[in-house]
Amino acid sequence: MTRSPQAPRPLAAGNWKMNGLLAARTEVEALGRRIAAAPPACDVLICPPATLIRPFAGAWSGQGIAFGGQDCHAAASGAHTGDISAAMIADAGGAYVIIGHSERRAAYGESDAAIAAKAEAALSAGLVAIVCVGETLAERDAGSAIAVVCGQVDASLPPAATPDAVVVAYEPVWAIGTGRTPSSGDIAAMHAAIRERLTARFGAQEGPRFRILYGGSVKPSNAAEILHLANVDGALVGGASLKAADFDAILDAYRG
Ligand code: PGA
Repeated sequence: MTRSPQAPRPLAAGNWKMNGLLAARTEVEALGRRIAAAPPACDVLICPPATLIRPFAGAWSGQGIAFGGQDCHAAASGAHTGDISAAMIADAGGAYVIIGHSERRAAYGESDAAIAAKAEAALSAGLVAIVCVGETLAERDAGSAIAVVCGQVDASLPPAATPDAVVVAYEPVWAIGTGRTPSSGDIAAMHAAIRERLTARFGAQEGPRFRILYGGSVKPSNAAEILHLANVDGALVGGASLKAADFDAILDAYRG
């Protein structure tokens, strides 16, 4: 099954993780030029390190690329050394924030409840929250991937979630940075299950409007196949988003 014409406008999001200094502006510049020359039929987002949101957004917001953070604290301000609030990301020119990435779930023990609280904070600050979910290899091998991921969807999305303010990113933990991806059938089955869950909770009008991204080793060679699957409304791209040429080649999936 392929994407329907009624599907939401896709989002191609780059997650730079802890990579990139100010000099990486040349990559954003190059990407901006390619997008201007051949606009893809999707929204384009880069989530660089927080230090780069202000310079990047100042130079390129409104020119076909949006910018966002990779995490935020659940509180608006306070004694949280080293953390950043959603309002700070918005103040720097960010429009989105990634919440609950599996690297943070694993390294900092972020629970579904903590992630829901962060997403709530993002919404309060006017950011779009990209809430990440995904199973481990052990969970997939045990046959519980769909149950695990649907449980994360239920518990990580805040009550105030709407299709305009929340994006779900399905990222199998074992596919991140490994070059391995699930089969197209497995991706489609997971996205259908997430869609069903969203529709059950938010209704037949709103459920189909949520964007469900796939993430985990998306690259130019597999992007078109993955991104044209039903219920796959974009990608969350790590490694391949660092180079303009690679990220732009992924955007080709959304060019006629
Ligand atoms: P990857 O990372 O594309 O390098 O696998 C994806 C992610 O972690 O968001």
